[in-house]
Amino acid sequence: VNDDTPPRTLSERSISAVADLINSGKVRRVVVMTGAGISTAAGIPDFRSPETGLYANLASLDLPEPEAVFDLSFFKENPRPFYALAKELYPGRYHPTVSHVFISLLASKNLLHQLFTQNIDCLERAAGIPEDLIVEAHGSFATQRCVECKTTYDDDKMRDHVRRGDVPRCEAKTGGLEGVCDGLVKPDIVFFGEQLPRSFFDRMPKAAQADLVLVMGTSLQVHPFASLPNQAMEYVPRVLFNMERVGTLGSQADDVLVLGDCDTGVRKLADALGWGEELEKVWKEL
Ligand code: APR
Ligand code: ZN
Repeated sequence: VNDDTPPRTLSERSISAVADLINSGKVRRVVVMTGAGISTAAGIPDFRSPETGLYANLASLDLPEPEAVFDLSFFKENPRPFYALAKELYPGRYHPTVSHVFISLLASKNLLHQLFTQNIDCLERAAGIPEDLIVEAHGSFATQRCVECKTTYDDDKMRDHVRRGDVPRCEAKTGGLEGVCDGLVKPDIVFFGEQLPRSFFDRMPKAAQADLVLVMGTSLQVHPFASLPNQAMEYVPRVLFNMERVGTLGSQADDVLVLGDCDTGVRKLADALGWGEELEKVWKEL
């Protein structure tokens, strides 16, 4: 073996070796990166799964291509497909999954350094993960504003409109004859072509400070989020909980691939950590 191979951190590429590392006290800064795959068990479809993904089922909304539903210029032309989808996805009807709760356990045990999520369902907050540890890299439904004058729009009014499936319009007063702006209101979700929130770039260095990386339920198809797992130092173990292998996961000496349903994989890690009962208890009490 040539002598410049980096020292291995894990005794073997397994869940029990990861659990031993965490229980040894050597892990203090876990960085977690999540995507829609951790919310499918909550009943929220992901985007790219062949049969069940949103992009396979948006055909009914006569879109030029599925991603147009999150395209800003298409939205300004025709906001109806987005609001038809928003009616399905709007937070309030879904319950966090075991995977969300596992991340909240990391936080309650002072092991969570940073969570980066691509999800817009706000289930991380609902699971009790401290807001200051969450970066919603693609925004969320939590707030909304006018695409023209950027005036924020009332949350309760927004909820009513989304529930009814109709399109909210800006009521900001203008000096002009028509009296109100009447611009389209859009949730603060990052559409294709829009900048990610400042917090994503401000917090990105946290990924390089990780001493353990967990990647859960994402196809890692969308940049710049997809580059996060590669920010970790080479000797830092990276565990993938996903149906299939994605990104560069599996290519480094201390990568562990836990392929299959993420809740099942997470339960295996929780059991190996001795957190199994606590995980179920917290999840049931949510
Ligand atoms: N357990 C494990 N993996 C799962 C599960 C599950 N229960 N359900 C789905 N997956 C996996 C899929 O196999 C896929 O690899 O999760 C991944 C989901 O990938 P996408 O549907 O592409 O979702 P995501 O990676 O979050 O998409 C990123 O794309 O459309 C944009 O802005 C949108 O944030 C979204 C971004
Ligand atoms: Zn306006």
